[in-house]
Amino acid sequence: MLDTYERSINYLRISVTDKCNLRCRYCTPDGEIKLLPRSEILSYEEIIRVVRVAVDMGINKIRLTGGEPLIKRNIIHLVAAIAQIQGIVDFGLSTNGILLRHFARPLTEAGLHRVNVSLDSLSPERYAYITRGGDVSQVLAGIDAALEAGLTPVKINCVIKESPEEKDAREVARYAAEKGLQVRYIREMITGKGQFWPVIGGHGGKCVSCNRLRLSSNGMIRPCLFSDLAFSVRELGARRAIELAVCAKPASGAVSQNKFYEVGG
Ligand code: 5AD
Ligand code: SF4
Repeated sequence: MLDTYERSINYLRISVTDKCNLRCRYCTPDGEIKLLPRSEILSYEEIIRVVRVAVDMGINKIRLTGGEPLIKRNIIHLVAAIAQIQGIVDFGLSTNGILLRHFARPLTEAGLHRVNVSLDSLSPERYAYITRGGDVSQVLAGIDAALEAGLTPVKINCVIKESPEEKDAREVARYAAEKGLQVRYIREMITGKGQFWPVIGGHGGKCVSCNRLRLSSNGMIRPCLFSDLAFSVRELGARRAIELAVCAKPASGAVSQNKFYEVGG
């Protein structure tokens, strides 16, 4: 699919839940989180239908995100069903890694190709501070399990304040080099202020070459993380929602109300 700026749109990121087992400071507010109404959350059958249509329309790259996808009940069932769909050349999942040690093997067996794991610090104290209580040793065990299970290349997402030269980021770089992992540095973004930057070592944040659509857990196809445009697959049907989203993809992002834990970054 080509959009109005002649960008080829071949990548769909699917947020399967807005819930998460962490509360990263750059992602979630301090107090209570307003979750989407449960009745609005797409069933696996609905998600699978959207993926079938999307792949038929030319999407060949799929990523599951959240919230945290691995806390979703029977996520392996969804992974297995998507893996069956002919025409997907790249099938990944983004996770905070907390539960990955339990899921790496089943994910491989279900047909997932690879994982991206969020890791912002190696220091147990700093990691617990950033994530409001997370245990980094579980993430490291998850990364090892992913490597063993062949969910490769395992890529690390490392959120930075300003620069990859920050202490936390440098330690993550050293760890990644030891393990042979690729790191992508993501400068902290603020959707409401239109503050976003190209991902260092990745593809995100580069509007001229953006190839993405997003499906939120409540069934909205979003053409851009930094736009509030959204098209409901329940109201419009998947095909129409995708067509409209591709046509509406802005030349570049601006500001939006999008929340990372809802839309999946
Ligand atoms: N800025 C940039 N990336 C963010 N993420 C969440 N919140 C933000 C933010 N404010 C992304 C990061 C993280 C993933 C789970 O979501 O990539 O690793
Ligand atoms: Fe959860 Fe990821 Fe947000 Fe952290 S950044 S709270 S792990 S969704």
